Amino acid sequence: MSDSQFTPRVFSGMQPSGGLTLGNYLGALKRYVEMQNEGTYETIYCMVDLHAITVWQDPAELASKTRELAAAYIAAGVDPEKSILINQSQVPEHTQLAWIFNTVARMGWMQRMTQFKDKAGKNAQNASLGLFAYPALMAADILVYHATHVPVGDDQKQHLELTRDIATKFNHDYGVDFFPITEPVIKGAATRVMSLRDGSKKMSKSDTSDASRINMTDDADTIAKKIRKAKTDPEPLPSEYKGLDDRPEARNLVNIYAALADISVDQVLADHGGAQFGTFKPALAELAVEKLSPIASEMTRLLNDVPEIDRLLARGAEQAREITQPILKKTYEIVGMVGA
Ligand code: TYM
Repeated sequence: MSDSQFTPRVFSGMQPSGGLTLGNYLGALKRYVEMQNEGTYETIYCMVDLHAITVWQDPAELASKTRELAAAYIAAGVDPEKSILINQSQVPEHTQLAWIFNTVARMGWMQRMTQFKDKAGKNAQNASLGLFAYPALMAADILVYHATHVPVGDDQKQHLELTRDIATKFNHDYGVDFFPITEPVIKGAATRVMSLRDGSKKMSKSDTSDASRINMTDDADTIAKKIRKAKTDPEPLPSEYKGLDDRPEARNLVNIYAALADISVDQVLADHGGAQFGTFKPALAELAVEKLSPIASEMTRLLNDVPEIDRLLARGAEQAREITQPILKKTYEIVGMVGA
């Protein structure tokens, strides 16, 4: 099957279940903005509130985190005039298609999902059914737009493989060429930003240590302090990438630098090879503050006008439904549901 029958269309989303981290920004959000501005794609960006509630969320917090995430998208450069910006729950075709996909996805496929295993922890029997079915809803988020490309960090790779498996099985079972086989876009120096305290762990909003991550809302002093205190080793920076083998914390800081500066890792090492962390860390802190502070202040400004954010989301949902309603209708026809 060729994807050429499909409009080049990008979909991606983030959970409004905590503040955004530098990992979310460098691994995904920065790419959202680039793909929007390339002009090649229609772009749709989502706050996945229905995914967030697969683990308990305080309702008032969920509402404010959703608006905060919308503000972060816009502050980072997602332009509601160029991209469709939506809150997942407001476009009901996502969940309608997800039900169909619940009947396509196999138990065995879902049981292999490492994020379910990580999130459910030792007490999987007590996890919500929604947490288990999470990846089928994610496949529906993407395929209800016939999205062809999905920019994400490395940790979403398995979910995107499942999305492709669901599309393939649906097309095969119903003998159609209806859903595209979506391409993940996992690109750049920082597809997996690691914790500042432990180079073997992903930087995450759910880490109990705030020092392990840079939050998009951290002020300049906090960013500088966290970078100064980041775990490193006593060696100076190498001049070549292979010199970072077995030095996960050093590699992480170099990757972050490259991604923030929009230069290659080789370039960072050409410029800073031989430097001690005592010199490199302040340079990184300065760069991080330069890139992140304007986003944080723009977020604060946008959050002063909550009705405007809500208005943008309502408009986004209307625009989205122009795409999702015909695709869901056609899906129902393919499946044999009458009355549409
Ligand atoms: P979420 O909310 O965990 O993360 C949002 C995006 O940020 C990326 N990311 C990272 N990238 C690099 N380094 C890190 N340390 C790091 N931490 C997070 C994630 O890869 C992701 O791209 N299941 C998704 C949300 C989702 C979705 C979708 C994504 C729901 N439906 C459809 C794409 C398409 C999630 O939980 O992302």
